Amino acid sequence: MENKFKRTLVTTALPYANGPVHIGHLAGVYVPADIYARYLRLKGEEVLLIGGSDEHGVPITIKARKEGVSPQDIVDRYHKIIKESFEEFGISFDIYSRTSSKIHHEMASDFFRKLYDKGEFIEKVSQQYYDEEAQQFLADRYITGTCPHCHNERAYGDQCEACGTSLNATDLINPKSAISGSQPVLRDTKHWYLPLDKWEPFLREWILEGHKEWRSNVYGQCKSWIDMGLQPRAVSRDLDWGVPVPVEGADGKVLYVWFDAPIGYISNTKELLPDSWEKWWKDPETKMLHFIGKDNIVFHCIVFPAMLKAEGSYNLPENVPANEFLNLEGDKISTSRNWAVWLHEYLREFPGKQDVLRYVLTANAPETKDNDFTWRDFQARNNNELVAILGNFVNRSLVLTHKYFGGKVPAAGELNDYDRATLAEFTNVKATVESYLDNYRFRDAQREAMNLARIGNKYLADTEPWKLAKTDMERVATILNLALQISANLAIAFEPFLPFSAAKLRHMLNMSECRWEQLGSSTLLAEGTELAATELLFEKIEDATIDAQIQKLQDTKRANELNEHKANPIRENIEFDDFMKLDIRVGKVLECTKVPKADKLLQFRIDDGLGGRTIVSGIAKHYNPEDLVGKNVCFVANLAPRKLRGIESQGMILSAEDADGRLVVITPADEVKPGSEVK
Ligand code: MF3
Ligand code: ZN
Repeated sequence: MENKFKRTLVTTALPYANGPVHIGHLAGVYVPADIYARYLRLKGEEVLLIGGSDEHGVPITIKARKEGVSPQDIVDRYHKIIKESFEEFGISFDIYSRTSSKIHHEMASDFFRKLYDKGEFIEKVSQQYYDEEAQQFLADRYITGTCPHCHNERAYGDQCEACGTSLNATDLINPKSAISGSQPVLRDTKHWYLPLDKWEPFLREWILEGHKEWRSNVYGQCKSWIDMGLQPRAVSRDLDWGVPVPVEGADGKVLYVWFDAPIGYISNTKELLPDSWEKWWKDPETKMLHFIGKDNIVFHCIVFPAMLKAEGSYNLPENVPANEFLNLEGDKISTSRNWAVWLHEYLREFPGKQDVLRYVLTANAPETKDNDFTWRDFQARNNNELVAILGNFVNRSLVLTHKYFGGKVPAAGELNDYDRATLAEFTNVKATVESYLDNYRFRDAQREAMNLARIGNKYLADTEPWKLAKTDMERVATILNLALQISANLAIAFEPFLPFSAAKLRHMLNMSECRWEQLGSSTLLAEGTELAATELLFEKIEDATIDAQIQKLQDTKRANELNEHKANPIRENIEFDDFMKLDIRVGKVLECTKVPKADKLLQFRIDDGLGGRTIVSGIAKHYNPEDLVGKNVCFVANLAPRKLRGIESQGMILSAEDADGRLVVITPADEVKPGSEVK
């Protein structure tokens, strides 16, 4: 098919600058995008690879508040760490910028203003929690309270992490502001909404009819969103961190982070190319691709295109090759649980081994389903593939040439049938790798590149030039010439995948150029070319190294478990007088029975030293009633009586509750008279 595009704009999801990046980021977005951009560059095509940090949003403000620093301090810290990690891994960004930059604020603000002026927004007033003490509206994450489903007292306004239910802040029982601790009140607030429903017919046509070739996970998610019916989406928030809403009377309001962040792709292009950025965004001969993870699909396939469409002068993405998730040793990667392999740590612990991780992450890329990274697999792929196949083949070709031909590429003589068969095998590789790359199938493409090394390895193993060296140097020359030509092909084929090793290999082979078109040629290296000294491309990774990584993860797991079993935080201080109001007594259990039809309740008759009383207590799940008879217990004696299942309960029996919800009745350490006061 004739290519209707002249150039390609590749964008990569902007990672939030509230933590470092890990292998999940690399595998899901940055390595595939980099492979693709490098491939196009090798083909001599015009391409831009755009990246940057996403520096707005509520989590950044929460982190800043926790640490007592400004949000800008947080994003400065992580932007630097993230940027350096990407550089170290050879992600070949043309620009890696950030959304707190002036140029981005202007671009996002202008973009909003243009839609506003065109009448593309609707304004709506809604009710939102407001903290009267801190004098600000509260994002859902800033509100805690009791979950209406599981009664966890530390649920957030958007989700209860104990039972996993997603919530609205107004669902919480006893809502509390995380800022001041006070009880928030509902207040009216005005926001701007992008009416996605208006764009539904367009989106249906453009994606569901026009882009059936998109990955099925992407297409499927879009279809289900569209079929569910699109709703207007708020594009502003009450928050003091972000791009201010550029409208009269919008004090204290900023653009919603998901409105400004994708505009960051545009701002960063403009920062890079102040004079020619528009051709990358508006010329229909530019092909735009968004590399993202699956949690970003709706924003890149529905919301951002609707924004671009509403604006009117921009291109829409040609494809959005979103990946599924990468798990780590069978568990979901989690920043808060520190369940991750952090890139900055990997770089410290495996210096010079960027390509190994790139290789493993591509070999296991979560292209069509979630995938798992394990350290054992990492070791196996390094030792059995990179070292044993690619490294070994290249090394033997070079070492033998140094040994028999003084490090100069020998001349090839007459080829025999086996040579010709080998050649025929590897000339196909170009077309195969290409068609995979053109369809964003990076793991298949890399596997094909590795097959080329397999072909070479087998060729040397079968022809055994080291055995022929005594008898037939002419034949040895032919074999090594061909082996070196295959090595040169590998230096090209692996450039998108393993840029560091490919560069090293090109240096050893003294290759001056490297173009994708040369792939498949058996005359890449001229006779007599001087080879540089041989170095190993890869080295074996020992069990002990891997064991240490596995141990590190096990330690994390144990620390998390301890953490999860940590006691609840201490509640607010009370005055001594408040404590003195409590009248706690010791009593002896005279009778204890189950309350009929109430699976949690036990009914007690207690000797309180004053003639006895009845108490109903919710501990039936934890005790057999007969086991409690005769025990001394502690109870609150002056709690106002209340009726439970028609029985008047005159007090409350005290129990200890552990983190798993197990209740244990409190009893005095020694025998003591009923009615004794507890102080
Ligand atoms: N920061 C978002 C995330 O990590 C991605 C933003 S992508 C952009 O999920 F398009 F908005 F920039
Ligand atoms: Zn819950």
